[in-house]
Amino acid sequence: MTDPESVVEVADLKKQFSADDDLFNRLFGWGEPKTVKAVDGVSLDIREGEALGIAGESGCGKTTLGETLLGLTEPTAGTVRFEGEDVTDRLRTDPELRTKLQIIQQDPYQSINPRFTVFNWIKEPLDVHNIGTEAEREERVLETLELAGLRPAEAFASEYPSELSGGERQRVGIARAIVLNPSFVVADEPTSMLDVSVRAGVLDLLNRLQREMGLAVMYISHDISLLKHTCDRIAIMYLGKVVEQGPATEVINDPKHPYTQALVSSTPIVDPDESRTPIEIEGEVPDPVNLDPGCRFAPRCPAAMPECREGEPRLYDVGEQRARCILYDEELMADASPEVPPEMVSDGMKTPGNRAD
Ligand SMILES: Nc1ncnc2c1ncn2[C@@H]1O[C@H](COP(=O)(O)OP(=O)(O)OP(=O)(O)O)[C@@H](O)[C@H]1O
Ligand SMILES: [Mg+2]
Repeated sequence: MTDPESVVEVADLKKQFSADDDLFNRLFGWGEPKTVKAVDGVSLDIREGEALGIAGESGCGKTTLGETLLGLTEPTAGTVRFEGEDVTDRLRTDPELRTKLQIIQQDPYQSINPRFTVFNWIKEPLDVHNIGTEAEREERVLETLELAGLRPAEAFASEYPSELSGGERQRVGIARAIVLNPSFVVADEPTSMLDVSVRAGVLDLLNRLQREMGLAVMYISHDISLLKHTCDRIAIMYLGKVVEQGPATEVINDPKHPYTQALVSSTPIVDPDESRTPIEIEGEVPDPVNLDPGCRFAPRCPAAMPECREGEPRLYDVGEQRARCILYDEELMADASPEVPPEMVSDGMKTPGNRAD
């Protein structure tokens, strides 16, 4: 169902890459073609003025999800809706749509052309999309520099990227992303390359823009404590799938999926009054090319049961959260007696017997 308030809504989005590293296979088509299911059936929506966080280990598909829903790479399957309209087929080509959907890159050193002044770098999208008169464009650039906290705007406008600090460069990246007045921005690890001392300032800026411009922002980050403070909702990904989603504080304070519990428990604690027992995730992330049937987290899950290997679990409603785990299948659990380690139960996981919701 389409939510009228959604800015962006994706349904069953999939992106697969060819992963054939065997030359003969590639040249002659021998053997089964190998594919990486980087994004494997993701459904999400983001509303006006909302911040949605995407977290998960390296390689789980966060960047691919962001790039696919912006039209920077073509989806293998699924639909993308923008303001209620199915735009899957014109995401990559419709110039007006391209102005509405923007990205803030992770690396402020690589993402700015060193030959451009700040002024020209931020003005370029206005020129490309032929927006306003020359004077209006110039005014818009200065106004956007102010908005991005680069003051006095005239002084920054004439600088080259090499003259700027990392934090200033990232503000330039943000200014270029917002100059066309977009509705939706993907911020892919926007502060991970920055000095710790300037991270909070850049995040505050993004938060302020989100509120003042009514921007919908998708934050991609490894750092779930950052997402807790920045986002309204969070989705946790594991091997191309969303395994848990819900309000940010609930997902982090009371995670439901065993993977989220392990991820949260291994995050450094900022609050000294809070204590957590880290849950070790044993084993390696499975090879995304050769996935076993059943739950993708089962090979590493401390709460795994034989049933987990049988089929891909669906998302279950658990209070305001949703978790892709059969521990929340009431019917199945009524007949089973899972051997859940005690630390998992005390750390927020509910066995059917003691489930509070
Ligand atoms: N262009 C590509 N060709 C082939 N495989 C790709 C390509 N881009 C991504 N992948 C694979 O898709 C999967 C998801 O990658 P992606 O970069 O989206 O993960 P990520 O969650 O953003 O990781 P990180 O946290 O390290 O940035 C990985 O297995 C990756 O190797
Ligand atoms: Mg990434």
